[in-house]
Amino acid sequence: MLKTIILIGGPMKGTRFRPLSLEIPKPLFPVAGFPIIHHHVEAAAQVEGMKEVILIGFYQPNDSLNRFITQAQQQFKIQIRYLQEYTALGTAGGIYHFRDQILAGNPDYFFVMNADVCGDFPLKEMLKFHTSKPTGTFCTILGTEATRQQSLTYGCIVENKDTNEIMHYVEKPETFISTTINCGIYLCSPSIFTPLEIEFKKNLEQNYNDDEPAFGCDYNAAPAKEVIRMEQDIFIPLASSGKLYVYITTQFWSQIKSGGAAIYANRHYLDLYHKSHPERLAQNAAGQPKIIGDVFIHPSAQVHPTAVLGPNATIGKNCVLGEGVRVRDSVVLEGAVLQDHCCILDSIIGWNSQVGCWTRIEGTPNDPNPNKPFAKIEANPTFTNDGKLNPSITVIGSDVQVPSEVIILNSIVLPNKELSGCYKNQIIL
Ligand code: GDD
Ligand code: GTP
Repeated sequence: MLKTIILIGGPMKGTRFRPLSLEIPKPLFPVAGFPIIHHHVEAAAQVEGMKEVILIGFYQPNDSLNRFITQAQQQFKIQIRYLQEYTALGTAGGIYHFRDQILAGNPDYFFVMNADVCGDFPLKEMLKFHTSKPTGTFCTILGTEATRQQSLTYGCIVENKDTNEIMHYVEKPETFISTTINCGIYLCSPSIFTPLEIEFKKNLEQNYNDDEPAFGCDYNAAPAKEVIRMEQDIFIPLASSGKLYVYITTQFWSQIKSGGAAIYANRHYLDLYHKSHPERLAQNAAGQPKIIGDVFIHPSAQVHPTAVLGPNATIGKNCVLGEGVRVRDSVVLEGAVLQDHCCILDSIIGWNSQVGCWTRIEGTPNDPNPNKPFAKIEANPTFTNDGKLNPSITVIGSDVQVPSEVIILNSIVLPNKELSGCYKNQIIL
């Protein structure tokens, strides 16, 4: 029997994803028509013997999370639960904290998936690989290739090429270590709880006298003695112990840290639908909008037959698109209204926003350099060193009114704004 844990983080995470993550937890942001972690659950549910998916995070339970769980349970016929950490416990602290729940029913193995990644997850292949390794193996990490420069922003892995054993692991190194990076997807044996317990006890011992809060103090504000970081505290010491392996994938994989990365993920998940769900892709037909490449249109959306969509466009639930509307490389979220002849390129249009006639909303994609093999999407900070906005996709927050006949270029608009003119390279607060 198998289980899957998805690390969904909490409200202080996903800052580069604002303002979109102000509305819903980032793991629930829709990509190719479905919440980011819907794609994780779908991949997990396809592995034979998968009994349960456990979401671990430090969000307060909320409606959007509950709705997601109910809907996904029905669709995938699998048990899904949310376990809330009392504070951020790190990428392994929550796993240790909820060990009894994870180990209930004696799973043979369990997957751990970071929520903020996307890909054609090779979970079945990882399972086959992991079970072929010596008994006593704690964990298999999914790895992939990156460029030398980009590898520095990921966990870096040096493997024994003959056995795939991890000989050396460094989390976000300062100088080059290896172009094999950690994808944030693991397959663990229950024996992983042994090093987790050792780390937990060591932590407790070291911090025993350190952070005793004074009487009347907020206990939650004290640094958690329970924080365990999977990468630094577990993987680094386990390297070259014969208990940690890497399975390398050449299939699509990417992080989703920013709005631009969500557009990139959207394109790849749409492409995967050719293989997994061709029925989700819009087709050209008489009296229907013109479709170029891969496009997802929610069945409840009303799109005028003269609209032109794609490639890489997702139109959400209850959206209304008028005559001659053009959408390319963009995600239009639930309830948005795009009036006649407006043009949306490399942008995200927030929930229930309105875009006026003949308006043009355009962003700058930061896609991986196509001339560099293994390049990943650039994780640029929002601002440059001299305080300017880094060119990126345009994000229109929720419930924003964009008037007719204006141009909005490379800008970020916070929710509930009523714009009155053209904007370029600005954050509109
Ligand atoms: N439940 C919970 N509690 N989840 C957490 C916590 C926590 O305290 N902290 C982080 N997470 C979740 C995040 O929501 C995310 O899904 C995942 O754990 C990774 O967290 P980050 O701390 O943002 O790490 P990262 O994305 O910069 O790097 C990790 O992922 C890379 C691949 O995307 C590392 O594992 C790298 O080694 C790896 O290359
Ligand atoms: P380049 O070859 O890089 O210039 O790209 P392109 O020719 O695809 O043009 P661009 O990226 O500017 O626009 C992408 C699509 O949007 C094209 O198919 C255009 O027909 C369409 N488009 C561009 N501007 C407008 C506009 O203002 N209104 C409408 N309705 N469509 C537009």
